Amino acid sequence: MTSTGIRLHAPAPGWAIAADVIVVGSGVAGLTAALRCEAAGLTTVVVTKARLDDGSTRWAQGGIAAALGEGDTPEQHLADTLVAGAGLCDEAAVRLLVTEGPDAVRRLIETGAHFDESSEGGLALTREGGHHRRRIAHAGGDATGAEISRALVEAVRARGLRTIENALVLDLLTDAEGRTAGVTLHVMGEGQHDGVGAVHAPAVVLATGGMGQVFAATTNPSVSTGDGVALALRAGAEVSDLEFVQFHPTVLFLGTDAEGQQPLVSEAVRGEGAHLVDADGVRFMAGQHELAELAPRDIVAKAIMRRMQEQDAEHMFLDARHFGAEMWEHRFPTILAACRANGIDPVTEPIPIAPAAHYASGGVRTDDHGRTTVPGLYASGECACTGVHGANRLASNSLLEGLVYAERIVADIAAERAADGLRARVPEPVPHPDRPAHPLLAPESRFAIQRIMTEGAGVLRGADSLAGAAEQLQRLHTDARDALDVHGKTAEPGVDTWEATNLLCVARVLVAAALLREETRGCHWREDHAERDDANWRRHIVVTLDPDRSLAVRTTDTADFPPTR
Ligand code: SIN
Repeated sequence: MTSTGIRLHAPAPGWAIAADVIVVGSGVAGLTAALRCEAAGLTTVVVTKARLDDGSTRWAQGGIAAALGEGDTPEQHLADTLVAGAGLCDEAAVRLLVTEGPDAVRRLIETGAHFDESSEGGLALTREGGHHRRRIAHAGGDATGAEISRALVEAVRARGLRTIENALVLDLLTDAEGRTAGVTLHVMGEGQHDGVGAVHAPAVVLATGGMGQVFAATTNPSVSTGDGVALALRAGAEVSDLEFVQFHPTVLFLGTDAEGQQPLVSEAVRGEGAHLVDADGVRFMAGQHELAELAPRDIVAKAIMRRMQEQDAEHMFLDARHFGAEMWEHRFPTILAACRANGIDPVTEPIPIAPAAHYASGGVRTDDHGRTTVPGLYASGECACTGVHGANRLASNSLLEGLVYAERIVADIAAERAADGLRARVPEPVPHPDRPAHPLLAPESRFAIQRIMTEGAGVLRGADSLAGAAEQLQRLHTDARDALDVHGKTAEPGVDTWEATNLLCVARVLVAAALLREETRGCHWREDHAERDDANWRRHIVVTLDPDRSLAVRTTDTADFPPTR
């Protein structure tokens, strides 16, 4: 497939550097890829939007799932993952994840990450929703992501990898044949490079994380604006399964008008025995699923929403008073501190919780080596859709996916390089001004998009709410497009406008897919189509961006996963 070559409206690059590989993003997927590239002798530039440790990985609490415990096997992990994925996982992709996962975790430990140990000396393993076994390794109690991020950032710095922080990637550069030739980016503030520039490379790994900021309330940090998915769409890549947004069941409830990043209360709290109770103190998960509070995440989120509706309540409660102060302080220090900072003491009172947007199960469609449909463009981690999550990601599979698929991507890049006789291909990008520009949105549109998405495409959706959201998003799009095409006007280029534009791009895809999928499956919950419909919908929705900037939406059979190029 050749690139559609749409670019964000932006100044032409004022500087350029070159590398073998560009890694965009600095979470577990990005930094693992960068470290493996360095080990394979590939010159690498890591580009990240804020500081190296500012992405979603740092916020992961529960841990990393892998069959590391006594009696556990990859087959059991596979079975739990497939059940959570509700019929849309690519079984071969999951098999790679669960079989290569344990060694990938061991390599992470060799890189310097310290996981909590049990009194017998092995890894301490906990449970989360959908897991029939204790298989979640954790660090610092509930600070697993922070520890992984610390270890990877330290390793990247120790090995002297080239990094460009505070840099928003704008677009993929391609050569005359549509192959990847690098990226354009905007570096904010003082540094070696400033303003819009380019990094030229024949391989680009997108590891930009999630898009939770498309909703008003999310567990994602403010940098999670879907930049990688939007870039891939403009470059002509396929995006899949975006309708499957996971709403985490237990996010600290700070009011119905709370906006932006909200504090997570890890599933591991339920894994250690906390109960969900309603406004009357009644446990409502017992009898709903054999795993009760530890049912897969979508089932728990739906049960909470249903009970909230029945009781006309704004939230439910998570009760873990029976842990006692010592366990709270030792096992869940981050959550304890976040609750107390918001005036709630989980040692003496139940925690008010409600579901909030948490994880994009879909993303840029890739094969088993993270290859997208654009040659030389790879995607890894939350921005990718490798097929392992299906319609609903199993808890704590995401850090593992970031590790395993980053390693597979680098193996592929290194193999391609070896096949080229170890010659570095010097990419020749098609000149920047020759490519059509994508109009920009004013920064304040970000809040309009979040409101539209929360009202129309949240945890509960229906044809009417989704059609309303689609119409409002389309209006934002056509207004911006007409201003550029007809009047030659667009919002002032800048980080806030580019982010708002990316958010609109992913929101349009998400709503189009959610509207089309007339069934309830995994974390896609349609009020007007309450049942899973395997006869019609055991299919993926695949979206591309046409050169005229409209969406092309199609469905594919599950057997068509992964894509062929
Ligand atoms: C959590 O700790 O509950 C989040 C884990 C995850 O999203 O996988």
